[in-house]
Amino acid sequence: MNRDQLRQYLNFYQDLGVKSIYRHTAPAAPPEVRPTPPELRPAPPALLPLAPPGETLDAIRADLGDDCRRCRLCEARSRIVFGSGSEQARLVFVGEGPGADEDAQGLPFVGRAGQLLTQMIDGTASKEGIPIRRPDVYICNVVKCRPPENRTPLPDEMEICGEFLFRQLLAIRPKAICALGSTAAKALLDTKDGVTRLRGRWHKWRDIPVIVTYHPSYLLRPYNQNAKREAWEDLKKVLHYVYD
Ligand code: URA
Repeated sequence: MNRDQLRQYLNFYQDLGVKSIYRHTAPAAPPEVRPTPPELRPAPPALLPLAPPGETLDAIRADLGDDCRRCRLCEARSRIVFGSGSEQARLVFVGEGPGADEDAQGLPFVGRAGQLLTQMIDGTASKEGIPIRRPDVYICNVVKCRPPENRTPLPDEMEICGEFLFRQLLAIRPKAICALGSTAAKALLDTKDGVTRLRGRWHKWRDIPVIVTYHPSYLLRPYNQNAKREAWEDLKKVLHYVYD
């Protein structure tokens, strides 16, 4: 790769908001939860392999690889959970990270929270006369590997895997994005605000409108009736915006 190509690639990733780039074979960080030490990060000339804009989901998946070791989450995961749904989706849902069921099946939102998400999408669309079902949208997560004990992903894990989320969004170019929970909101909007403050109004990731709503796992907890009602309102809003 010559200097001009390298500069072009670096600019492309900088535009995406990617602050550091890792190679496939970067050594895994120690098992305890600590930021990846800077000395383990490869210098920019070792960038591998970088992708131009306009790439497909298959190309991004191939770049991620079958045994990604870019961060410590590789150590406890069984399967990488890249995403599922339509590459032509006009709406993308972004969750936090795979749970136990997703880790076992390699698919996002297939456990209890996933069943609730499916009900919310299918039920709201059907009630509102919108002819779409879950397979018509695209669903993925900020991090593609299950955090141990379902802990919240750490900032460096979100930054490393965020590169792939951003590339997925650029490949699909949906009409809107629905961020499920505060981790997805943080990754997309670079905010520390929680869902309660962010929901109910439009935000943007680059030029794509974003709605933030409660994560389905939160809605599964008892005594969250109000949040449930609000989540259904958020979903109605984004579905009508995208499909009317
Ligand atoms: N929670 C998430 O954030 N993502 C999944 O895929 C499943 C549960």
